Formats: sequence, C-alpha cells, structure tokens
Amino acid sequence: MIAISLKNQPSNRHLRGVNLHRVQPMLATTQTPFMLLRTNVIKESFRRIQKAMPNIDLFYAVKANDHPSIIKTLIEENCNFDISSAHELETVIKCGGVVENAIHTNPIKMIPEFDSAVEMGVNTFVADNITELDKFRKYDGKAGVLVRIKTESNGSVVNLSYKFGAETKEIPQLLDRIIDLNIPFRGFCFHVGSQCTDIDQYTAAIKTSRKMINLAANKGLSTEILDIGGGFPIEYTEDIPPIEYIGQRISSALEANIDPSIRIISEPGRFICGEAVTLFSSVIGKSTRNGKKWYYIDDGLYGSFSGRLFDHCSYQIITNRNTKWEKAALAGPTCDSFDVIYDDCLMPPLEMGDILMFPAMGAYCSVSATKFNGLKPARIVTVDW
Ligand SMILES: Cc1ncc(COP(=O)(O)O)c(C=O)c1O
Repeated sequence: MIAISLKNQPSNRHLRGVNLHRVQPMLATTQTPFMLLRTNVIKESFRRIQKAMPNIDLFYAVKANDHPSIIKTLIEENCNFDISSAHELETVIKCGGVVENAIHTNPIKMIPEFDSAVEMGVNTFVADNITELDKFRKYDGKAGVLVRIKTESNGSVVNLSYKFGAETKEIPQLLDRIIDLNIPFRGFCFHVGSQCTDIDQYTAAIKTSRKMINLAANKGLSTEILDIGGGFPIEYTEDIPPIEYIGQRISSALEANIDPSIRIISEPGRFICGEAVTLFSSVIGKSTRNGKKWYYIDDGLYGSFSGRLFDHCSYQIITNRNTKWEKAALAGPTCDSFDVIYDDCLMPPLEMGDILMFPAMGAYCSVSATKFNGLKPARIVTVDW
C-alpha cells in the first residue's frame, strides 16, 4: 500500500476525476471525516455498464451503498433494484422506486423479512436449498424463485459461493421440490464473487446455466430469467479489465449459450457506486513506535474502513506532502489496537491536521461502518458533479 502525493503525481486517474478546485473550499468548512458522494459519477458508471451490456437489465445491488442520493439518481436512470432486506426495499420506495422493479436476492431469508417483502409485493426471490424452498409454500404462488447455482470464485476478491449456491448435482432435487410445492419458477442466478477480474468465471457460469436451463426444461419448467449477478471490478490499487471487454465476453457467451427469449438480468453494486465516493480524513495524532512512524486519523476500521475487513479491500491514500517517503502505520481513532488501517505503508512525513484523501470508497464502506466508541461514521456530503 503506497500513498500517492498530489504534488508528485496529480493525475486524474489517481484522483478519479475529483476536482480539487471545488474540493478545497469544502475542506476549509467541512469537519472531517466526510465522504464526498458525486451523483454524476453514479450516472456515468451506470450508463457505462449499461452500454457495455446493452441486452442485460440492470438491478443495482443496494447492499453496496444504500444512500438515498444514489438510489434517486438510479431511479432517474430507470435502473431496477436488487434488495436483500425489507429495509432496503423501504429505502428504495421512499426514494420513489417501485416494488415491481425490485428482486430479493438474499438466499437465506428470515421469515418476518420474507413476509414483509411478499406483503410489499416483491415476487422474485432466491433459494439454493430444500429448507429454503419450503419457506415459499406459505405464500401460495406469490413468491417466485430463482435457483442460485454455485460458481467457482477464482479471480474474485470476495468469494460469494462459499456460503451460497447449489452444486449442479443438487439442482434436479431442487427443481423437483419446486414442482411439488407449485412455486412459480423464474429461472437461475449465480454470482461469480465480487471484484472479479477473471472473466472466464462469467463464461463458465453461463455455460453451466445453459445445462441447468435444459435440465429444467426436461422437467417441464420454463426459464424466464437468468440472473448473472454482480462482481464487476473497479480499480483500487491493481489494474482491472475494462467493463467494455467484460461486457463483450459476457454478451458472446450469452449469445452462444442462452436462448434469446430468456431475460438476462444483472446485479452490479460496486461498479456503480464504488468510484463515486471519496473519503477525506484528518491526522489527529502521531507517534513513533519501535522506530516506525504512526499516524492516527479520524476514521478507521470501525468506520469507513470497515471495507478493509469485510470487503478485503486496499484503498489508495493521497496526500499533499512529498518529502522523504518512509515506512509508516496508519491507524483509526478508536481505543482498539485492532483498529489499524495499514500496518506497513509508505508515506511522506505527515503533520497534525493534514487531510488525506481516499478515492473509490463508495462500495461496502459506509454501509458497514459502526459507531463503536461513540464515534459517528463519516458524514456523507452529496454533490452533483
Ligand atoms: C446476491 C448479490 N448480488 C449482487 C451483489 C453485488 O456484487 P458486486 O458489488 O460485486 O457487483 C452481491 C454482493 O454481495 C450479492 O451478494
């Protein structure tokens, strides 16, 4: 993990298009830590992925970031929503979204959660085992099902098939149960894992889906939807394949394997919201421990940097200083020794009050921040540029 000095490399690529002239006055008046949320970037990312995958209906994965400005911006863009709880659905509705444009993709649902989603009118859910399918019985045809197929998670930073997804050998039994319980069958879904850089994972999962679609057809079940999940990567500290290339590979695999009458949907989260948020955090303490410089800042693992843990992510650090670079540690503001963001990073010497900038912190950061130690999560400041 290397800090980037603004003085050394003021490149737009590193700044992710953040206009420093517009940010400077905010830094003077806004208490850190704060997250700058740029709705224009949400729009651009949505349009870019839509263009890259023109025949796929997008359902934004609200879990990645449920901020109302993001939801409202996406409603204006006619995006649909992937929700995993009644609360996420309520957020979408409060922002002006409609239930008809939402699917519920949590494979294991608490009964009260399931009840409220069905009551509110959601009609497409996900299951990957018999026990879960049995929960559908009480809704008497109001809750349809997508069967989640397990995929390999090679090349993804977050493995989403460890906990979820049915093995292909289990699927015949699941389809039989769907028939027995008379559950409306919608089709199949998979998720190759988040921040996926190995595009073969999508093409392999599409080929497996074709086999499962044929299997269902042989049992008299017609597939309406194939949901190819999310997983599309953004640039943190490593290079990634561009979404245009990913879209091309996926489109070719779909064309070769999936009947065009089947509706293809996708649930991108990170790709849409990740680059739209930049964190600003101040140095609030300094020390030297065992010969290494330690800097303490006003946000940490219990706050916006929760993504370091849950999302296994490394975020770039941008500083305004550019003197002698040395090994340092960067720690959060709580009393827990565990609250260390980077144990070994290269940094120029920082001063008290210095403001550091962390780009691409829109996905899986603020949504998992806590108020441990009574410290409030970073404020979110929304702008439309
Ligand atoms: C079911 C489901 N869909 C979509 C997503 C969004 O994935 P990503 O942010 O990688 O696009 C997730 C992430 O956890 C998920 O679990």
